[in-house]
Amino acid sequence: MRIVLLGAPGSGKGTQSQLLIKAHGVPQISTGDLLREARAQGTPLGQKAQAAMDSGKLVDDALVLGMIRERLARPDAAQGFILDGFPRNIAQAAALGILLLELKQPLERVLLLNVDLGLLFKRLTGRRVCQDCQRVFNIVTSPPGTLPHCTQCGDMPRLVQRPDDREEVIGKRLEVYEAQTKPLIEYYEKAGLLRVVDGDADVATVYARLQAAMQGP
Ligand code: AP5
Repeated sequence: MRIVLLGAPGSGKGTQSQLLIKAHGVPQISTGDLLREARAQGTPLGQKAQAAMDSGKLVDDALVLGMIRERLARPDAAQGFILDGFPRNIAQAAALGILLLELKQPLERVLLLNVDLGLLFKRLTGRRVCQDCQRVFNIVTSPPGTLPHCTQCGDMPRLVQRPDDREEVIGKRLEVYEAQTKPLIEYYEKAGLLRVVDGDADVATVYARLQAAMQGP
């Protein structure tokens, strides 16, 4: 399985990747997660990425491409991968195409998770992340009456909001998606790789739709 999960911030790429990893045994490669790890470790790359991430802009292509090249070369990606949040613009998509050609691992599908703007906003403002294990929760879209707690870290969850999930930054991220990432829809449609999945449903339903889109024509 060699796929790209394409979609706006909050469309469910990370959530669905977690389910796909379990079912297919291939790694999720999320440039957002890799960048957050680099920041947490205080590496030079993390420091360079910080300002762009906190303001909702894209991190420099050269930094991201270097990171992806290194990640795709690791042995666990040889059997396939789920690219989550990469590519993010046409330049990144073109570079990915060349890299995958070198690795003799062409993309099989690009799955677009389609979600309305209002819902994206609701999901992003409600997202909370466990500070200890990085599991993702949602205080808005979780079933009513369910207190968000981290089953992995015990009864004392330490849920925090991502700095870029503040309302003022969400607007910028959605703007950047419209201007820079959305053109990838046409790019991959022309390449015959795009499948559109309605992401406006509960997690299990969206997952079933994704599976069908992966297996269908
Ligand atoms: P990144 O981490 O990639 O963020 P993103 O693309 O904005 O995506 P999100 O992580 O916000 O959303 P998601 O689609 O994964 O949704 P999730 O499943 O969590 O990037 C962050 C920053 O890093 C960028 O702004 C940029 O600065 C930089 N960056 C990253 N990649 C880059 C690149 N390639 N080039 C340059 N810069 C880059 O779901 C969201 C919430 O909704 C969760 O709370 C979840 O529980 C809930 N939810 C999910 N699905 C459902 C559902 N079906 N029903 C109800 N709730 C749901």
